[in-house]
Amino acid sequence: MLEIIDQTKSEILSIQAGSHEQVEAFRIKYLSRKGIIPQLFDQLKELPPEQKKNVGKPLNELKQLAEAKLKEWTAELGNRMADVGPDMDLTLPPVPDKIGSRHPLNLTRYLIISIFERLGFNVADGPEIEDDWHNFTALNFPENHPAREMQDTFFIARNPDMLLRTHTSNVQIRLMEKQKPPIRAIMPGRVYRNEAISARAHCFFHQVEGLYVDRTVSFADLKQTLYHFAKEMFGKNTKIRLRPSFFPFTEPSAEIDVSCFICHGKGCNICKYSGWVEIAGSGMVHPNVLRNCGIDPEEYTGFAFGMGIERVTMLRYGINDLRLFSENDIRFLKQFKKVL
Ligand code: PHE
Repeated sequence: MLEIIDQTKSEILSIQAGSHEQVEAFRIKYLSRKGIIPQLFDQLKELPPEQKKNVGKPLNELKQLAEAKLKEWTAELGNRMADVGPDMDLTLPPVPDKIGSRHPLNLTRYLIISIFERLGFNVADGPEIEDDWHNFTALNFPENHPAREMQDTFFIARNPDMLLRTHTSNVQIRLMEKQKPPIRAIMPGRVYRNEAISARAHCFFHQVEGLYVDRTVSFADLKQTLYHFAKEMFGKNTKIRLRPSFFPFTEPSAEIDVSCFICHGKGCNICKYSGWVEIAGSGMVHPNVLRNCGIDPEEYTGFAFGMGIERVTMLRYGINDLRLFSENDIRFLKQFKKVL
């Protein structure tokens, strides 16, 4: 055995391993489980005790030699890799990330929210898949109201009581059902209507609902709040105009127009040469609606409004086609990078 050990030693001393493959071949041949050295150790176990002593020491030295060589070559290979460097030039400027930007509808939504927050309004939201009670019945819609027709509203075939909400007014009901006045909240969200898609209409769009219920809330509060909003949103010279209107859930009701901030009332194609643009529906919360939510209309009054976010955004940026908002065209979206 001593002879084999000697022979292996001079073999190892004569080897020069310069590549990964050679170093690995060396490891397998001499040090792996079935390699020469572990096998010599197996044989060592079989020897009578007095021989073990003589063979054990040189065999251990042989093992250490092989391990030292392996370590040395592996380290050399590592150094050489470091000299060449990783496969890139760290001095080059970085490739700029394509960072997304806020969607124009969100920019408008944030702006609307921040104006009302300063007036003490909380932000609330509710479900887009809604039941008939919260979208229609509690809001005082009569049984045969046209909005309940299949042509106008997306109903859910499996359960005719469920539908895609047609406005954010459902959140008014949800809030009043679970919270006692005073309630002062704005409720942004997506709504759905069964309409053919065109430059001016889409099957979904966005609204911000507003609700203020407390003792002695009056129509003057509604008017003043929306006047303040219009000046903050469109500039301090903006005027508002209220036109009588009808909603089942408000009485009296009014459409809110703002003076056209493009032509300042002179007339342009944005305001269709009228000098005014409509931005919201509004009114005093109908006593039946308060009652449906367990609020006593003798004690409390409230106002509500609902504003279209698309409409306001189109006016702000001079956008003339509603479809642009949902087409995900980067050429359109990237134009709003720095605007808020
Ligand atoms: N929900 C109404 C709409 O979608 C808007 C509105 C909200 C009107 C609140 C009055 C009060 O047209």
